[in-house]
Amino acid sequence: MGLFKVLGFRGFLVPLFFFAALVVASVSGIGVNWGNQATHPLSPPAVVKLLRNNGIQKVKLFDADAYTLNALSKSGIQVMVGIPNDMLYTLANSVKAAENWVSKNVSAHISSGGVDIRYVAVGNEPFLSTFNGTFEATTLPALQNIQSALIKAGLGNKVKVTVPLNADVYESASSQPSTGDFRTNIHDLMLQIVKFLNDNGAPFTVNIYPFISLYNDVNFPVDYAFFNGYESTINDGGKIYDNVFDANYDTLVWALQKNGFGNMPIIVGEMGWPTDGDRNANLQYAQRFNQGFMTRYNAGKGTPMRPGPFDAYLFSLVDEDAKSIQPGNFERHWGLFYFDGQPKYLLNLGTINSNGLVPARNVHYLAKKWCVLKPSASLDDTQVATSVSYACGRADCTSLGYGTSCGGLDARGNVSYAFNSYYQINDQLDSACKFSSLSMITDRNPSTSDCLFRFMIEIDDASLDGRIGLLQKPVVLVSFVFMLFTIM
Ligand SMILES: *[C@@H]1O[C@H](CO)[C@@H](O)[C@H](O)[C@H]1NC(C)=O
Ligand SMILES: *[C@@H]1O[C@H](CO)[C@@H](O)[C@H](O)[C@H]1NC(C)=O
Ligand SMILES: *[C@@H]1O[C@H](CO)[C@@H](O)[C@H](O)[C@H]1NC(C)=O
Repeated sequence: MGLFKVLGFRGFLVPLFFFAALVVASVSGIGVNWGNQATHPLSPPAVVKLLRNNGIQKVKLFDADAYTLNALSKSGIQVMVGIPNDMLYTLANSVKAAENWVSKNVSAHISSGGVDIRYVAVGNEPFLSTFNGTFEATTLPALQNIQSALIKAGLGNKVKVTVPLNADVYESASSQPSTGDFRTNIHDLMLQIVKFLNDNGAPFTVNIYPFISLYNDVNFPVDYAFFNGYESTINDGGKIYDNVFDANYDTLVWALQKNGFGNMPIIVGEMGWPTDGDRNANLQYAQRFNQGFMTRYNAGKGTPMRPGPFDAYLFSLVDEDAKSIQPGNFERHWGLFYFDGQPKYLLNLGTINSNGLVPARNVHYLAKKWCVLKPSASLDDTQVATSVSYACGRADCTSLGYGTSCGGLDARGNVSYAFNSYYQINDQLDSACKFSSLSMITDRNPSTSDCLFRFMIEIDDASLDGRIGLLQKPVVLVSFVFMLFTIM
């Protein structure tokens, strides 16, 4: 996006109203996604401190929670607020509802609170193939109503709309980006949306996940998922591709260009690498991917089709242990930080601290105690399987399994891990460590060098308001557990 860099500098020379329109598109440091689907989230004020101490100046949210936005007030951090998919129907069908949304969730925070809201993300990956078209009829009308409401509120220049889309809204017939176009079954809809965004000076937002390429295809060349080390480069009419991120991004550039929108600004709304829950989700790969990306990003290096700097938001800030694991067990492990704000690996964001991420401070932990399988309990006890299934169905066992951080535990370790997860998620209640007569509480840390038996942090009640209940996908969790037991 070399064009915008140039325009950004020229902005100082052109009349003020031009500058106002351009400032939205100027690039300023890396952004991060901040989600709150966790049983024990850090409080919003603690997260805002974490962002500031790490020099992160842009944040993307998935809703417009008032407690979160209040914490961002006067922080100097630019904000993208989000509208969840389940609100699209209402906002598509009611101008009044869209006006209320903008008034309460944008205008109020800008005028009273000094929250620097720059974007409204309308929906989250609404055209994902797995949604079976559920949001196809409502996304564009909701987008239109929110845009009108922003204009009516006098925010048309300051706040831009966008729709974060999964990269599966476009496809290519070959590994060459130049064969790219929008997905056939939503081609017309995509053109209407792109035209609407373009008419309103709004960017295209896309989420790009090389990890998923590797996860979905055992034959995918591992090095091609990263930003270094791939030898069999792809030549697309003289443009050379040595990583799938560039190829994916440029497939979108071609799709836009073919349909007459070659200059449309693109924001990468999500990109990152998980650290657990799959054999390809580990600290080494996450470090390689994110550092590889950050080094290029900070050097202002784009893709072969758009060689200049662009805007991107890493996915994500912290792990979220209450996320649905329908996409896979890795889904709860995307954080640059663990749930408690402790960095996972050495990452230089090129902002404040070149020695790596700065941890959250003053985090209050629960007591150092754990719930484990009693030494006297027998693995042959018929209660073992039901107890583990119960615990994993209500807590988080995504760090167990082939190639994961706790994949090396023995059978007894597996059971203890499940018991402990349930006990900690329930704030170390005595009653949460009563798995018939199999369990006991200990102050001896059962963790191994690879596998952490966590204990949780204290949470303030206000943080829990917007959180998603743990039982949202019990079926998936239970089937995972049965699998675990057939293996054992
Ligand atoms: C504002 O956003 C919150 C959080 O996403 C949502 O629950 C609420 O309904 C929105 N308010 C209005 C008036 O739509
Ligand atoms: C989409 O369709 C599939 C197959 O018919 C079904 O299993 C799935 O539950 C549907 N998903 C949604 C979100 O409707
Ligand atoms: C522990 O559970 C994991 C996860 O299913 C399984 O792969 C592994 O084989 C189990 N280990 C033992 C020793 O039973």
